Amino acid sequence: MRTVSLPHAEVRVLPDVAALSRAAADEFLRAARSAIDKSGLFTVALSGGSTPKAIFGLLAVDEAAGRNKLAWDKVQIFFGDERHVPPDHSDSNYRMANEALLSKVPLPPANVHRVRAELDAVRAAAEYERELRSAFGSLTGEIPRFDLIMLGMGPDGHTASLFPGSAALKEQGAFVSANWVEKFNSHRITFTFPLLNAAAEIMFVAGGADKADMLRNVLCGDPSSRTYPAQDVRPATGRLLWLVDEAAASKL
Ligand code: 6PG
Repeated sequence: MRTVSLPHAEVRVLPDVAALSRAAADEFLRAARSAIDKSGLFTVALSGGSTPKAIFGLLAVDEAAGRNKLAWDKVQIFFGDERHVPPDHSDSNYRMANEALLSKVPLPPANVHRVRAELDAVRAAAEYERELRSAFGSLTGEIPRFDLIMLGMGPDGHTASLFPGSAALKEQGAFVSANWVEKFNSHRITFTFPLLNAAAEIMFVAGGADKADMLRNVLCGDPSSRTYPAQDVRPATGRLLWLVDEAAASKL
């Protein structure tokens, strides 16, 4: 493992996807234990897509093997974004997380806060924002501060479901938005930048050569001309950690 020093982010480069997944699982466990020790609770938002599946699988195997025991009853699970599909749909981020992890650890069902993406997208986003505010006890103004938000990055520089050119990029009031994504001809429900940037820790996980060009743009591009959504994830006071593999880091 090697590190790349940047002024605004800690970047750890792992040899391959397997090592990247293990490092991300260990970071999840570290953040969880730290938060539970400090406040008796761990609030985490999971990312979607394919990369997290291996990470979730490792956490489930750890639990089954009695390794890295975690007080799952003190873990509150949210989703940083969700496709506009029912929970049993093959595209559902909830379904992937539930099959890979949530159904395999002793999590009280009430601790899993699923986006009801089977509803109208605008209604699902508004309902999720209410659920967030209620769970964090922030029914008034202050922004919920997650202990950890996991994010991925697409080759186009999107993160969560904040895609280039989409309306939610400009959202500064709501914490959750129903975002129309032209290229999918569909809505996505997504956290917005104010919520992301209030987190105590953001952990990006990105692997594969197809992300190398964008990773260079996002991490080393001119900070004054931020044109890719992932560049606008800048926690105000939280930690920004990038876990990448050598293939994705090949142009850093
Ligand atoms: C989603 C994710 C999305 C994902 C990136 C990277 O719902 O798809 O939230 O932002 O993290 O597209 O996806 P991969 O890990 O599959 O490359």
